[in-house]
Amino acid sequence: MKDDDARKPETNSGVSRRDFMKISAVTAAVPLVLGPRVVEAAGEEVAVHGPGKVTVALNVNGKKLSAELEPRVTLLDALRGPFDLAGAKRVCDRGACGACTVLLDGKPVYACSVLAIDAQGAKITTIEALAESDKLTPVMQAFVEHDAQQCGFCTPGFVVAATYFLQKHPKPNADDIRRELNGNYCRCGTYDGIRAVALAQTGGEQS
Ligand code: FES
Ligand code: FES
Repeated sequence: MKDDDARKPETNSGVSRRDFMKISAVTAAVPLVLGPRVVEAAGEEVAVHGPGKVTVALNVNGKKLSAELEPRVTLLDALRGPFDLAGAKRVCDRGACGACTVLLDGKPVYACSVLAIDAQGAKITTIEALAESDKLTPVMQAFVEHDAQQCGFCTPGFVVAATYFLQKHPKPNADDIRRELNGNYCRCGTYDGIRAVALAQTGGEQS
């Protein structure tokens, strides 16, 4: 996994690691409370959520969903837990494998590396919403036709990533595919099939 992978989390809290350490020192002595508090850190007022549960409201697949979650809960755990959307898979749980890939404002992210609270205000799209009703998308259909999965654990993440990639690069070559999908791993080694999926969308041939 490259360090500059676009799916590494971007928080919108605006709190640096240094600020976080200072805030932690400030908040360690206060009792558990619900809702955000404002503390002063590094000369600025900073809203602090938790450590107890707070209301987290998300826009997932066009629906408004909310749950009471601790601020430490990841988007992946929120999706698979209270929101009952288990398409995104937890494999490494540390931003390395891509099995949990979802779209955040149209761009792929590792849901295991984004806090649910930080995803508020964004439009989240999961594998469950890529297809309309029971009809497979062309990318999904190609996964079936090219036998591009074995255990299938990596497949939802690959389908989300490949769908985004093919929208961005409608006519990719084999090198484009290797480069742009390098944020997803398949332990079963179905890479030839996955490359064939991407090339099949363009009428290209694998090299
Ligand atoms: S489970 Fe999120 S990147 Fe592996
Ligand atoms: S099909 Fe098993 S990990 Fe990819």
